[in-house]
Amino acid sequence: MDGRELVRSVREVGSVRGLRALRAAWRHHRMDAAELPARGAERARVPGPVTGAEPRPGGGVVRFARSELEVVVAAGGPVFWGWDGAGPTPSYALAGDRPEPDPRAVLEPDKDGGWQVVSERLTVAVSRHGAVEVRTPGGVVLRRELPPRWWEPAAGGPARWVQPSEVPADARFFGLGGRACGPRLRDGTYRLWNTDPRGGFEPGDDPLYITMPVEVVVADAGTHLMFYDNSWDGRVTLREGEEGAGSGPDRPGTSELRMEGGPLRCWVVAGTPARVLRGWAALTGAPALPPSWALGHHHARWGFGSEREVRRTAAGYRERGLPLSAVHLDIDHYDEHQVFTVDRERFPDLPGLAGELRAQGVRLVSIVDPAVKAEPGRPLYDSGVAAGAFVRDARGREVRGVVWPGECVYPDFTDPGVRGWWGRLYEERLAQGFSGIWHDMNEPVSFAPFGDMTLPRSARHAMDGAGGDHREAHNVYGLAMARAGYEGLCRLRPRERPFLFSRSGWAGMQRYGGTWSGDVTTGWPGLRASLSLVLGLGLCGVPYSGPDVGGFNGSPSPELYLRWFQLGAYLPLFRTHAAIWAGRREPWEFGPQVLEHARAALAERERLLPYFVTLSHLARRTGAPYVRPVWWDAPEDRALRDCEDAFLLGDALLVAPVLESGTDQRAVRLPRGRWYDTVTGEAHQGPGQVLLDAPLSRVPVLARAGAVLPVRGEDGGLELDVWAPAPGRTGGGLVVRDAGDGWEQPEIERFTTRVGPAGVSVEREGCAEVGLPVRVRGLQSS
Ligand code: GLC
Repeated sequence: MDGRELVRSVREVGSVRGLRALRAAWRHHRMDAAELPARGAERARVPGPVTGAEPRPGGGVVRFARSELEVVVAAGGPVFWGWDGAGPTPSYALAGDRPEPDPRAVLEPDKDGGWQVVSERLTVAVSRHGAVEVRTPGGVVLRRELPPRWWEPAAGGPARWVQPSEVPADARFFGLGGRACGPRLRDGTYRLWNTDPRGGFEPGDDPLYITMPVEVVVADAGTHLMFYDNSWDGRVTLREGEEGAGSGPDRPGTSELRMEGGPLRCWVVAGTPARVLRGWAALTGAPALPPSWALGHHHARWGFGSEREVRRTAAGYRERGLPLSAVHLDIDHYDEHQVFTVDRERFPDLPGLAGELRAQGVRLVSIVDPAVKAEPGRPLYDSGVAAGAFVRDARGREVRGVVWPGECVYPDFTDPGVRGWWGRLYEERLAQGFSGIWHDMNEPVSFAPFGDMTLPRSARHAMDGAGGDHREAHNVYGLAMARAGYEGLCRLRPRERPFLFSRSGWAGMQRYGGTWSGDVTTGWPGLRASLSLVLGLGLCGVPYSGPDVGGFNGSPSPELYLRWFQLGAYLPLFRTHAAIWAGRREPWEFGPQVLEHARAALAERERLLPYFVTLSHLARRTGAPYVRPVWWDAPEDRALRDCEDAFLLGDALLVAPVLESGTDQRAVRLPRGRWYDTVTGEAHQGPGQVLLDAPLSRVPVLARAGAVLPVRGEDGGLELDVWAPAPGRTGGGLVVRDAGDGWEQPEIERFTTRVGPAGVSVEREGCAEVGLPVRVRGLQSS
């Protein structure tokens, strides 16, 4: 127990909930001690020498003295391999069935006594002792997996394993889910166990709510994504490499994965960053498309005491002419914190409130926690018992934990029947007038003054028919809950796209919705962590996310609040939120100057809404996140790989938020090409670094020369912002129009632009007319 835990446990123990939590934690501890005895003697195993091989479609099986390895190239390029008979399915990450093998990829002996599978995009070479090397078609090594090692308990049970790997000396690591200390993952050990960081986190806190065994590695040799499809607890130790001085040897970068059990199987997707994310989305599923209202500004609050307070907040926005898209109701609108209930005294007519707000263009979003108060006679508990919905221990008794409502039980979302039961419960939320759903506490959390704040590891789960325990189910609990909610909403409102975002999740969660930062600590480090999370999650395939603007748990200074707000305005989920004990978050609570600057940020967000809509469609169709690291189209630019304080918003914009106090200028590293300051119109030439003004009124945003992006004009109609291409160059952009909140898939419209003697011209592919008002910008500098 560290100091913070100790203080917390003393505080908690003073309360009834604290006592309950202490008892539950002891119970969980004892349960695990009885059901999961110490591992005892273990036998170490390595693959041993190669003994033979057998070709199969897309690759084949290579046999070793003590193991075997299956390698398959899937159609479209991703490569799978699995040890000891592990195949690609069943998998919680994959979107569908086992992908089709690429019949052109064949297993053949190599000259060193090993085997290789050559495909169009990659060569996978398996050495005589079970090292696996991934090479580009030109023969450059992207990654080398050394022979794995297993430890098998003599008394039976899951084998632990370690997979050491090497990457090029110049490589940088990204990903592993949502990490506060990134986006570039420095040397250190990162745990794979979804965790509520107890009341708030900063860049040093790890792990957080969403961990994923997904590494994105960027090197001169190329970019690749490595996914170890295994949901067990594990640790990844990363160490960046070093290039040798002069003609000295390089020290490769290393990544070592240690898992507590589960299969050793993985996928590699390689290519440009855009190709990698496209391949990853093809494998794990296209990101859900948020309804367009979810791209506007949201206001959330833990501690809305009544309908009146909600009305007052919405009116505050309206009266000041500030746009507002959604208000989120937290657990305090529940009856005694119980999910799928309403406190009718303080919220007597939620459907009425929802209708009233809806008429003003504001939606209501509801928090949904998974834990159900364990009390016979309560309809939800009784219905769950009848459905056999709750997680049980090895002896068949309900596993109880402690969350906001007190003693609780937990639906087993890894059971398809339970997902169906749970999904039907959202009918009550829809009847209350809610338009969107916010999943919380689904790591899942059981308060505990010591140890892990979650279910006992020995708790049993259905694992979709395979059967298993919480060691395997824990990391996919939030993902499976998101599936239950998403599928339920699709059935209940078949004509509307669900809006759902979830605190916890795993690889593939984008199929069901987005996520948010969770309880990021109010403070400048928390602001930086907010950006790290959004970028890292985007690279893991989850494009829709954003932080609690202002931080979760304190009272930001006006300056910090404003800078957070200005960052949030350029992130997919733009939401202010705070804890019940934290200071206000309304833009007018920080003085007239902050209000005016926040107003400008909101206005710019509104103006860019058509661009956000386009980015949401492109994310769905291509897997490319809205928010991309600045190296996205220039991964070979090493200075960009190390740039962590700016990001690309789609193809057109580069946003350089202010992440420090007292700043009115900041250095911005530009990718190659010409970039215009969107406010002054001044042109800057990349690659390189420029110093830009960043007064309190705005953060620097640059537009790529040649960019064409859809914006909302002053009359509310769609317009094109066209940034003059550099002389002799052309440019362009894609537009996908908002087609409402249904399932219609609008066409992608393609625009190109060029500079001729008569100035800048714009064309729309396949059409004689552009058909939209065009505003050419940046001309004075061409
Ligand atoms: C968790 C959530 C937070 C929410 C609170 C109360 O801490 O992360 O957003 O306000 O629970 O429901």
